[in-house]
Amino acid sequence: MSNQQKKLSERIEYLTQQLNHHSHQYYVLDAPEIPDAEYDRLFRELQQIEAEHPELKKIDSPTQRVGGEPLAAFSQVKHRIPMLSLGNVFDEQELQDFYKRVADRLKIDMQSDQAIEFTAEPKLDGLAISLVYEKGILVQAATRGDGNVGEKVTENARTIRNIPLHLSGTDIPDLLEVRGEVFMSKAVFEKLNNKAREKGEKTFVNPRNAAAGSLRQLDSKIAASRELSMYCYAVGVVEGYQLPATHSEILEKLGQWGMPLCSEVEVVKGVDGCRQYYEKIGQQRDALAYDIDGVVYKVNDLKLQQQLGFVARAPRWATAHKFPAQEEITCVNAIEFQVGRTGALTPVARLQPVFVGGVTVSNATLHNMDEVRRKDVRVGDQVIIRRAGDVIPEVASVVPGKRKAGSVEVELPKACPVCGSDVVQEEGGAVARCSGGLYCHAQRKEGIKHFASRRAMDIDGLGDKLVEQLVDARLIDHIDDLYSLKDKVEEIVAMERMAKKSAENLIESLEKSKRTTLPRFIFALGIREVGEVTAASLANHFGDIQGLMQASEEELINIDDVGPVVASRVVTFFSQQHNIEVINKLIEAGISWPPIEIKQASELTLSGLSFVVTGTLSSMSRNDAKQRLIDKGAKVVGSVSKNTSYVVVGENPGSKAAKAEQLGIDILDEEAFLAFINK
Ligand code: IVH
Repeated sequence: MSNQQKKLSERIEYLTQQLNHHSHQYYVLDAPEIPDAEYDRLFRELQQIEAEHPELKKIDSPTQRVGGEPLAAFSQVKHRIPMLSLGNVFDEQELQDFYKRVADRLKIDMQSDQAIEFTAEPKLDGLAISLVYEKGILVQAATRGDGNVGEKVTENARTIRNIPLHLSGTDIPDLLEVRGEVFMSKAVFEKLNNKAREKGEKTFVNPRNAAAGSLRQLDSKIAASRELSMYCYAVGVVEGYQLPATHSEILEKLGQWGMPLCSEVEVVKGVDGCRQYYEKIGQQRDALAYDIDGVVYKVNDLKLQQQLGFVARAPRWATAHKFPAQEEITCVNAIEFQVGRTGALTPVARLQPVFVGGVTVSNATLHNMDEVRRKDVRVGDQVIIRRAGDVIPEVASVVPGKRKAGSVEVELPKACPVCGSDVVQEEGGAVARCSGGLYCHAQRKEGIKHFASRRAMDIDGLGDKLVEQLVDARLIDHIDDLYSLKDKVEEIVAMERMAKKSAENLIESLEKSKRTTLPRFIFALGIREVGEVTAASLANHFGDIQGLMQASEEELINIDDVGPVVASRVVTFFSQQHNIEVINKLIEAGISWPPIEIKQASELTLSGLSFVVTGTLSSMSRNDAKQRLIDKGAKVVGSVSKNTSYVVVGENPGSKAAKAEQLGIDILDEEAFLAFINK
């Protein structure tokens, strides 16, 4: 070896060691030590040396992470030890039966306090992988396949950032097969699907399908772009190393070698410990960064595992305890179009009712015509309905091969299904609208519902159903008619399912709602594109409604949070004489709000920062928290993105907290949040 080659080899070794260390810090421990740019610089240097001296490139080089030449086909791999599946339990009885079977075989008296110890783990919803390390170096990765023979996906596995390309630490076995689950995090799944939607491409049905499709890509560069992750949960073949005596210690050892582990794994005792774990993880399910479909219990002691052995293709010493399904198949009975407050037509699938994600679902939005075309949903189709966490149910995809002959593509109606006015397609947008405006019953109803809603005028007792009834009975036409309802109590009482007391309560709520705030009033008007946050900005800027009514587009654009689209919507709204009349009538009816003090720039200490508030706070409501932030000039938005400055997290936060963690956004708990706004 020449002197220069020796030097280069040393440099390669140094760069490899550095990159592996920082990659582990970042992807496994979630504790980066250097900025991304520094990592990229080291990475590029290694790439360049390897390009100039291919003979020096190693198979566990970190540059393998970006993928290489596409394969023509996958070769097959026979698993030396078959990759088995797991038995399932679905309820308390089946859990007890499982425990009893285990206890009986181990001759343990159920009544004794000799509780069997299990490791309890989330059941990750991805696909199984086998990773073979020879003398600590990753040499082969394979899918489960039929359990005996899988596909060799080594190149793709190398692109998964938290899979170590070689093991670290001491006591490295001569041969080690690690098994685990490859999955796509919810945040990556959302990101990929959003990108696909923007490009008009097909979206993935769920993170599991996305992970499976990505791991089985012949082009490893595509696999690399999918940002998959992996957690390990078992060991297959081992040579040249004596494994510890329990499953939990094996996992610990894998962690010491740098293998990624799921942080929710626990050791529990007895059937009670299993049940408690199941309930706890069930509560955390929505907030976890990845999909799970249950939990897995494994007898912890390997000797006991051996004693128990296997039945058919599953171990007797383990079982999956499944959560209620988040996906089900059902039939589309009809596709109808709903007309919203702004006239937007939304296609909705009317479904054969199906129990999914803990509720019975009989309708699912199809969002817009682009979505209908992309998914090609038709009446009569069998579809997969997905309801994950608190997300609204959606048609994930059509079940292929089940379409009935003679089915037809869905078409956008030419006339509004409610008022018969022309439907117009917005330029460049996916949205189609009824052109009927206030002539359209549906738009009027939706406008009134919005006006009455909790975050707008907060008219207690005036729910959606009652609005429909009142409009249908011609007791109200527009929002300003609400405040003359007090002269129509008899007519209200005459309506179906309406008692005198409810009518009186409604009148009282209406009276009460007259004392409001300017931001609420502006929001309640239902100006297109003016949500709560924009309404608050407008109120703060103008201090009264008159100023806003006369504002020009130029003045509006200069306000925080107002862009050209909002500015033009606001000006259009106030240029319509009937809108001015409605506002005047409302004010004449007695709607009022306390004066707004216009804030000085020096009071807006949080201006330029953007916040998301999620979960339940103990000292105030979420809306109050938002208001406090807005008062200090902060922007409050609904979803977490890389532009979010802070996420305020209360009790039982949803997926937003997980997303913030994923994106590395600063999280404030309630205490930190209070300190922050009082600063
Ligand atoms: S253990 C012999 N642990 O579930 C036991 N499997 O239904 C082998 N899975 O193919 C599996 N999370 O892909 C185990 N914590 C976990 C798991 C898990 C997900 C998957 C795995 C397996 C399937 C069996």
